[in-house]
Amino acid sequence: MGSCFMKRLLLRCIECGAEYSGDVVIYRCPRCDDLLDVVVDVDEVFRRESLRGRVESIWRYAELLPDFGDGVVSLGEGFTRLVKCERLAKIVGVRELFLKLEGLNPTGSFKDRGMSVGVSMALSVGARRVMCASTGNTSASLAAYSARAGLECVVLIPEGRVALGKLFQARIHGAKVYQVRGNFDEALSIAFRSASEMGAYLLNSINPWRIEGQKTVSFEIWEQLGRTDINVVVPVGNSGNISAIWKGFKELQQYGVIDDFPRLIGVQASGAAPIVEMLMNNYSTIRFWDSPETVATAIRIGKPVNWKKGIRAIRESDGTAVSVTDDEILKSLRLLATVEGVACEPAGASTIAGLKKLVDEGKIGRDEIAVCILTGNALKDPSEHLVSWNIPMTLDSVSAKSI
Ligand code: F0G
Repeated sequence: MGSCFMKRLLLRCIECGAEYSGDVVIYRCPRCDDLLDVVVDVDEVFRRESLRGRVESIWRYAELLPDFGDGVVSLGEGFTRLVKCERLAKIVGVRELFLKLEGLNPTGSFKDRGMSVGVSMALSVGARRVMCASTGNTSASLAAYSARAGLECVVLIPEGRVALGKLFQARIHGAKVYQVRGNFDEALSIAFRSASEMGAYLLNSINPWRIEGQKTVSFEIWEQLGRTDINVVVPVGNSGNISAIWKGFKELQQYGVIDDFPRLIGVQASGAAPIVEMLMNNYSTIRFWDSPETVATAIRIGKPVNWKKGIRAIRESDGTAVSVTDDEILKSLRLLATVEGVACEPAGASTIAGLKKLVDEGKIGRDEIAVCILTGNALKDPSEHLVSWNIPMTLDSVSAKSI
């Protein structure tokens, strides 16, 4: 969508405030090495009425996204369903509970929102090759979007720790897949070191343009629900998504679209919970975890690269963070799938476990509304241990009579 009004996008360091043009390829502040935010400065944004009839993807919110003209790389990402769950709401103990089905995105996760913007940006800066480290979904998404854009794709994954469906996706879209003998955090540090050497555009969530795409989920929650005085519950790994969601709501408020802010609730697995630990220590210092471990492999991250932005989102929104055990994650997944007919990968199910815990502890009221972000599709991770409670029985003609 062409814009007939003024739009200025620049990069600003979250620590020292230094500003840079949106056209330069940098992932961190050249002055102090901290994280960068995209600052969006526009004359005018959408209102509910102006959205009617627009394209059903993230690009319906074009006013607050970069302009790429004909160079947009899109597979129809975003505009995912928000499903109301009455039975689950009763079990969890909140007034209303909604699930945002991010597994409905083109490659089955929320990453597609960020990759549409990120890969469009890669094309516009003239990159020929893109790269990421990943626990699986980022690599699946980047592989697909780079294929569509005609770019070469290199992905680094922790050996043996990526769910089958995600690895399958990276391979079928033709990415060059390298397995790292180490965890995700180690793979990411290799990606940082080698991207510029390899002439590759880096598309991990440290790249602030990824966050621009991902913030659109907040616009959709506002548009679909019609209110924002809610709790938004998000699984946290690198903290990219929770900071993107907060950025989205802040922009809506800044441009007078909403008055109320939601509270952001971050959920981590108890074996990979540096953000929760920092919060419990009154936000004093972050300690990175060397050997994160959880059944939710998507968020098996001990060194969240965007931790500062994530902590900022939780504090500014008056939210909180909570950790849940693998057992709680698996029970929530089973509950969701059997009570509501909605399944997702384990990371997404952690939101139900986290919400229930906070309600039980009285930190979220029983009269409140919650939106849980189910970040990835169930088919991404068809691991046997997720369904070990339901063993298929062998049927022969004799036993068929007794079903
Ligand atoms: N849920 C799912 C399904 C994910 O794949 C991820 C991250 C997260 C939640 C956490 O989001 O990192 O922005 O806090 N997956 C990344 C990947 C790390 O490589 O696919 P975050």
